[in-house]
Amino acid sequence: MDNTKPVSIAELRDMRTRGEKIACLTCYDASFALIEDRAGVDLVLIGDSLGMVLHGGRTTTPVTVDDIVYHSRCVAPHLSRAFLVADLPFLSYATLERALDASQRVMQEGGAKMVKLEGGREQASIVEYLSVRGVPVCAHLGLQPQFVHKMGAFRIQGRDEAAAEAMLHDARVLAEAGADLLLLECIPTELGARIAAESPVPVIGIGAGHRVDGQILVLHDILHVSPMVTLGRTPRFVKNYMACAAEQGTPDIESAVRAYVREVKSGAYPAPEHRFDVPAPAAIRNDKAGRTARPALKRPAPAGVVRKRRK
Ligand code: KIV
Repeated sequence: MDNTKPVSIAELRDMRTRGEKIACLTCYDASFALIEDRAGVDLVLIGDSLGMVLHGGRTTTPVTVDDIVYHSRCVAPHLSRAFLVADLPFLSYATLERALDASQRVMQEGGAKMVKLEGGREQASIVEYLSVRGVPVCAHLGLQPQFVHKMGAFRIQGRDEAAAEAMLHDARVLAEAGADLLLLECIPTELGARIAAESPVPVIGIGAGHRVDGQILVLHDILHVSPMVTLGRTPRFVKNYMACAAEQGTPDIESAVRAYVREVKSGAYPAPEHRFDVPAPAAIRNDKAGRTARPALKRPAPAGVVRKRRK
């Protein structure tokens, strides 16, 4: 493997095929972009988490396309290897036209190579609309922070059978609509494993267990300086890599990011204490041959979605 060649979608797929875990991290500025790139992060996300870790908001709702473009422009020129993904913020993809406009801005002005959007099968027509126009899409399932005011709180998703089956179905529909990457947030380990096993595209997890194709965390969380950490509300899946770097006698930020990349690659992260190893609903449990215990529900594709079979 060439460690200097820019990471592409094809390379992310190849990493999955050869069983190499994909190390992903959020980033918002030039200083950290240089460090993350040098430390071997494969995929950098301009996350709308910037509304919480940089702006100090309680949610990501106020983040705008301008914010994402601004931070993408700070990061993009300083990545020589890592693949740059940018979030489409709250309501910026509420219609096909708005989604295209926002994607055009974050890719042309910001330099992103892929956009990420939250939601299940109801976003399939948007994913397809973008995808056929050359916009690579990462679909974000599970806990969706942009839906916090609908959901009422940030909590683990997909715990009961109906929710788990619905998420499996969403993952299939989104991949068939053209998503090139799936991101799963805060779900049971078994469900993450089931979705990853079925998915035709790489699956990245945050609090989705260890049996997915890669991991992502928020930069300020692993450095233990985010408001959530400081205010004592550290999510279960967060690990303090500044402490790891200090234990190894190199208490600096680049060593912390390197330790994160190393542990993602080796599978040491996420350890059981960072996972939701709760009993899986019967419908998503694998049998010995790796099939589901019960056949997954088949539902029709949302109107307007042309299904494409992907290898
Ligand atoms: O906005 C963000 O940082 C994210 C990650 C939590 C995956 O979406």
